Amino acid sequence: MIAIGCDHGGFALKQEIISYLQQNGYEYQDFGTYDVESCDYPAYGEKVARAVASGACEKGLLFCGTGVGISLAANRVKGIRAVVCSEPYSAEMSRRHNNANVLCLGGRVVGPGLAEQIVDVWLHTEFEGGRHERRVSLLDSIAP
Ligand code: RB5
Repeated sequence: MIAIGCDHGGFALKQEIISYLQQNGYEYQDFGTYDVESCDYPAYGEKVARAVASGACEKGLLFCGTGVGISLAANRVKGIRAVVCSEPYSAEMSRRHNNANVLCLGGRVVGPGLAEQIVDVWLHTEFEGGRHERRVSLLDSIAP
């Protein structure tokens, strides 16, 4: 199950990616927002992050104008490794090396075609483990 959420700045792109998820047979839970009315990104970043951190959802996809604000919100939740990506290479490496569990995209930064490529590679790439396991664990040892 993939948790998905956005603010008004990411709403249009979220809808595009929902179509991609449906076409590719992914199960998802949409935590809103559900229209383009102005809203506050921290609320949606937190909802998706908590769904992932609790184990209810395996991964999360978040969208705001830049992807930045909503990633900052998600990263406040313990156990969340949220990344902002605007191209596929970083998206792939964020899975292979960082075991990122939330991907954030900017609806005012990337178009739907590029966003689909980024989401596709991110969802299909596994964590490499090994030396990266220790480094990722060290993230959790940083005191808040
Ligand atoms: C909303 O205008 C915008 O600030 C928000 O979507 C996001 O880009 C914040 O990081």
